[in-house]
Amino acid sequence: MREVLEKRQRDLVLFMDRVRNEHNFSALIRTAEAVGILRIFYGYPDPKGPPINEAVTLGAHRWVFLERVEDPVEKLREFLRDGYQVVVTWLGAGTRDFREVDYTRPTVIVVGNEVEGVSPELLPLATHRIMIPMMGMVRSLNVSVATGIILYEAFRQREAAGLYERPQLSRKEMEAILEKWAYEDIITQRRR
Ligand SMILES: C[S@@+](CC[C@H](N)C(=O)[O-])C[C@H]1O[C@@H](n2cnc3c(N)ncnc32)[C@H](O)[C@@H]1O
Repeated sequence: MREVLEKRQRDLVLFMDRVRNEHNFSALIRTAEAVGILRIFYGYPDPKGPPINEAVTLGAHRWVFLERVEDPVEKLREFLRDGYQVVVTWLGAGTRDFREVDYTRPTVIVVGNEVEGVSPELLPLATHRIMIPMMGMVRSLNVSVATGIILYEAFRQREAAGLYERPQLSRKEMEAILEKWAYEDIITQRRR
């Protein structure tokens, strides 16, 4: 657990905007956890959110902080105030190739609903609008596939920059998370 925490990227954040399919929602959590993301936020009309499918997450949801946001616009503004770049996936005009962005900077990646994409009200908050180039007949990728591609580009850049080599969390933060994780792990073991 300590080794994993030492690699957690506090300043790489995933924001899911109304992702509604439980498999997508769960797969996104699993991929985000795999690249060392600690914090995942999501906007969703139902306070309960989409159900987490544990057969898909394989427990990844237990090792990240997952939080529903009432007001996505305000949340993204908060990130901008804190010096983050907001990178919005957008399949319309004014986008750039996702590989042109510097993901070693504090970054929030925003991905959208399976049918409607990212909410238009989030667009003005975008530091960058990005798109994964596509050469086929179909005009979009599945959201969890697209997010995986983008997160692994972020991972590639961050690894090359050595960001996984030095812990981002303070010792105190790590101890607090370790305590929580260890406790939850014991509870989960007992349930089995
Ligand atoms: C199926 S797409 C939504 C399609 C929707 N009609 C639109 O225009 O945005 C769901 C989400 O997957 C992601 N996505 C899909 N294809 C993508 C691509 N080529 N580049 C970047 N993100 C993509 C985006 O986050 C998008 O909001």
